[in-house]
Amino acid sequence: MRCLAIGLGTWKSGKGEVGRAVKAAIKSGYRHIDCAATYGNEAEIGEAFSEIFKEGKIKREEVWVTSKLWNNAHKKEDVIPALKQTLTDLELDYLDLYLIHWPVAFKPDVASPKKDEDYLSLEEAPILDTWKMLREAKEQGLVKHIGVSNFSRKKLQDLMAESNENPELNQVELHPYLQQQELLEFCKQNNIHLTGYSPLGSGDRPEGMKASNEPSLLENEVIIEIAEKHQASAYQILISWHLTRDTAVIPKSTNPGRIEENLKSSEIKLDKEDLEKITKLNKHFRYVTGEFFVTPGNSYEDIYDEKK
Ligand code: A2P
Repeated sequence: MRCLAIGLGTWKSGKGEVGRAVKAAIKSGYRHIDCAATYGNEAEIGEAFSEIFKEGKIKREEVWVTSKLWNNAHKKEDVIPALKQTLTDLELDYLDLYLIHWPVAFKPDVASPKKDEDYLSLEEAPILDTWKMLREAKEQGLVKHIGVSNFSRKKLQDLMAESNENPELNQVELHPYLQQQELLEFCKQNNIHLTGYSPLGSGDRPEGMKASNEPSLLENEVIIEIAEKHQASAYQILISWHLTRDTAVIPKSTNPGRIEENLKSSEIKLDKEDLEKITKLNKHFRYVTGEFFVTPGNSYEDIYDEKK
């Protein structure tokens, strides 16, 4: 079975396990691996890629590889060097897709900001400048496609107006509690693909990123009932829902059995009744709140263009 819409997520996949996960995924049929510099595991993923491509059964061009520019490399002169570091780590000549990870910029020596002074303002590091360098990377053949991540409709519109082009893809959090229908429709109208992250609720996030009263997708009665009806797991229902909306989805797992189980979600066909029930679950709830970027000078509204 091969399916490009379901990719392997690698956020939170630790060293010593991520390489094995990538190999297991590609062996079971995944042809889409989602990476990012800030996940701190690209070098191990690169070793796995080299091993797989050297074997010769699967060619580089058969696998879609995404990576993302971290927030401390938004300045014009930092973009291509950051991308080249990712290519070195991933042991690849090119990426299929490169994304601006967040619409937020840090100073170059800051990996994770603690105070206002750690940030660059939009005047100091305009998104348009960063975007132009992604375009330059595409012209140089370092990446095939370019896009963004965690961009609201407003931020997409601003970038589209300034750059006169549409990002090819926006990667955002998506699941039945955060359906983002308006964003989805806007993206469809403008030929911008959407990929959903944290499709399973990212239960393995660091404790500091969790709220005490988070709703569980996996324990949701409607999801469980639909899973029983299809003789599938709740995980598979959550993944297959994305395919009905024509978005890509990147469930993370480092367990070979679960990696395979997640890919098999593409065999499930949710019907109209299932979809109507899932639509009703929407509550615009974010597991990844972006609050780690909130300081006195950077509000939640600045990130998502919505009230908390
Ligand atoms: P593990 O890596 O041990 O399999 P998300 O994709 O929303 O970030 O969620 C990832 C979390 O979901 C991880 O804790 C991962 O654990 C778990 N997970 C992924 N797929 C499955 C599955 N099929 N069954 C059980 N847990 C899963």
